[in-house]
Amino acid sequence: MGAGVIGLSAAWRAAGAGWTVTVHDPAPARGASWVAGGMLAPLTEGWPGEEGPLELGTASLERWPGFAARLSAAAGLPSGLRTRGTLVVAVDSADAGELRVLAGWLAERGRRAESVGRRELSRREPSLSRSIRGALHVPGDLSVDNRALLAALRAACVSAGVRFAAERVDDLTAPAADQVVLAAGVGSAALHPLARVHPVKGEILRLRERPGTLPRPGLTVRGVVHGRHVYLVPRDDGLVVGATQYEAGHDTRVTVGGVRDLIADAETVLPSVAEYELDSAQAGLRPMTADNLPLIGRVDSGTVLATGHGRNGLLLAPLTADAVLAELEGEPLPVAASADPGRVLW
Ligand code: GLY
Repeated sequence: MGAGVIGLSAAWRAAGAGWTVTVHDPAPARGASWVAGGMLAPLTEGWPGEEGPLELGTASLERWPGFAARLSAAAGLPSGLRTRGTLVVAVDSADAGELRVLAGWLAERGRRAESVGRRELSRREPSLSRSIRGALHVPGDLSVDNRALLAALRAACVSAGVRFAAERVDDLTAPAADQVVLAAGVGSAALHPLARVHPVKGEILRLRERPGTLPRPGLTVRGVVHGRHVYLVPRDDGLVVGATQYEAGHDTRVTVGGVRDLIADAETVLPSVAEYELDSAQAGLRPMTADNLPLIGRVDSGTVLATGHGRNGLLLAPLTADAVLAELEGEPLPVAASADPGRVLW
């Protein structure tokens, strides 16, 4: 149930293992996965105290290259994976302090992160602002063009024999199926009591390069800008700039203040942003849980949850697909144990 990145990945994986799969979604691939920026970034999204999401995220990131290669071959389309790494930059001295905390935490866990001095930064990424106070290069954090990925997943599902049903499902017992996988993002909460997810809104901009625009950075740039966070993720034709984060129920209207803050912070990091065409502004709803870990696992003999991926749906798609298939086949994946939907959530 649900044709976002999680539902499609699980459907493709299960169909490949011989299951007969129908995906139910009245608006396939148009929810949070469509709006997303596409960072595959467990290291630079990490923070002391968030060891669980770090471990789960890195386990999924390791699966990404193989997943992308198999998907591309099955779909006959690019997966959208980009492997150039991520740069985190700080604008003022407090922001630079935040960067040092992140670098120290990653170093303690043996994760690769390298400080980049000012001169080296302007040599490597000349389009970034000269006023940046500190930078950290994290080669392990990648990105994916989410819309290319969704197109590839849909094509791979179709060629694996997955069927699509457009009717809205309001009751998990309605589909005539031996097993139901609930992967409906923020919509999951209304369908099962253990799908304890709440919506956290994120606004995001898509910018297109114009003739004469300075070349954009080749890798993802995350900025800490006077305590606020912004990210700039490269695409073939421009950049995705995201994302605001606040609670607003199920409201997906884009606010003027959200767009203003994103543009201001992006321009502080990359002054040439003002030259880009503003292609679109959208908002999506992240399905968050209370402990920032997803809900993946069996909740009764006929139902498997695969929801609550919060900021990390694209990152966690390969691992979730493996974990769902393992649950369907009665052999849960040990690496997904921390995502057990039966855990106590406060
Ligand atoms: N993964 C980034 C976001 O949710 O904005």
